[in-house]
Amino acid sequence: MNSNNSIDMYEILIVDDTPEQIEMALVVLKGNNYKVRVSTKGSSALKLLEKQKPDLILLDIFMPEIDGFELCRIIKQNTEYKNIPVIFLTSSGDEQSIKKGFEAGAQDYVTKPFNTTELLARVKTHIKLKQQTEFLYLANRELDSFCYSIAHDLKAPLLSMGKLIEYLSLDYFDKLGEDGNTLISNIHKKSGELTAIIDHLLEFSRMCELEMKPEHINLEQLFRSVFDELMLTRPNRQVELRLSGLPDITGDSIMLRILVTNILSNSIKYTAPRKIARIAVEYTEYPDSYVFCVTDNGVGFDMKYSLRLFQVFQRLHSSKEFEGSGVGLSICQRILKRHNGRAWMTGQENQGASFYFSFPKNPPI
Ligand SMILES: Nc1ncnc2c1ncn2[C@@H]1O[C@H](COP(=O)(O)OP(=O)(O)OP(=O)(O)O)[C@@H](O)[C@H]1O
Ligand SMILES: [Mg+2]
Repeated sequence: MNSNNSIDMYEILIVDDTPEQIEMALVVLKGNNYKVRVSTKGSSALKLLEKQKPDLILLDIFMPEIDGFELCRIIKQNTEYKNIPVIFLTSSGDEQSIKKGFEAGAQDYVTKPFNTTELLARVKTHIKLKQQTEFLYLANRELDSFCYSIAHDLKAPLLSMGKLIEYLSLDYFDKLGEDGNTLISNIHKKSGELTAIIDHLLEFSRMCELEMKPEHINLEQLFRSVFDELMLTRPNRQVELRLSGLPDITGDSIMLRILVTNILSNSIKYTAPRKIARIAVEYTEYPDSYVFCVTDNGVGFDMKYSLRLFQVFQRLHSSKEFEGSGVGLSICQRILKRHNGRAWMTGQENQGASFYFSFPKNPPI
């Protein structure tokens, strides 16, 4: 529903320069309780959009100045307007225009002259879809901020508990005896693990909210510097990293560093039993995107559980074998989604694993 409307009416913008078609659509839509605004040119349609966002746009193809395809592209590239459904008005059987319309980002088309039942059904469906998408988006955001505030509120008492345990062990070391001190040290370790989970959860919920800034990223350098940083705390490990001349990409630098840190820390962690661990990062180039692959020679996993990997708190290895909270890959997934990319994993038990991610050349930032 358009929030600026005083009454509960959905607003439709018709952009068409053929008076008889406009008249017909006006009668049908107004008769069905829609508020309608009309523009006969692309430039004036953009001005109308600036004044008030409609719930749906009916767009003619052939118009003076800016044609329908171009106008649709402009609308879909604008973050303010891109979620407004666009329905093209085409002549029947014009397959080429239908294809071009979808490529420009339109959601649907109706053929002229209108079949009123069809026009109304499509308008209704797309407004409903838009509403449901908005509802899901808001519900998700609400869940995220709920998750964030719980994690945030738990963190302070947890840190105090950790400190109190430390004081207890320092001040009462002699009185606690060996068993008592082991117990205290275990409690301290567990409270540290809990703090790490909370930190991960905070990071996870932040990934949807964080504003993205597009930057030119030298991926080869990023992988190398994150790897060097991670290896600083693992002086006894022997890990070889092979990078195959990775391309530069455009993305949010903070998020991409978190992504690479999670991928590499998994590869380093799950190759711990190997005398010499090997990690290789390769890529394949496609017209609009890259697909990167990070392969390791670690303990791998059973592919039948691969769908679980990207869910929060899901782990295929026990904490006794490998420490972790099971949030890292869900964070990776979120970061990639925000860049319109995708992540998946393949692996084989005891044979190693590969983390794949696709990344568009022009992410929607
Ligand atoms: N390179 C890998 N080799 C084998 N298994 C892996 C690899 N990467 C991830 N996994 C499996 O996927 C699970 C989920 O990974 P994820 O990174 O989300 O969590 P984690 O590493 O257990 O903990 P953390 O939240 O600290 O990253 C892991 O518990 C592990 O079972
Ligand atoms: Mg991990």
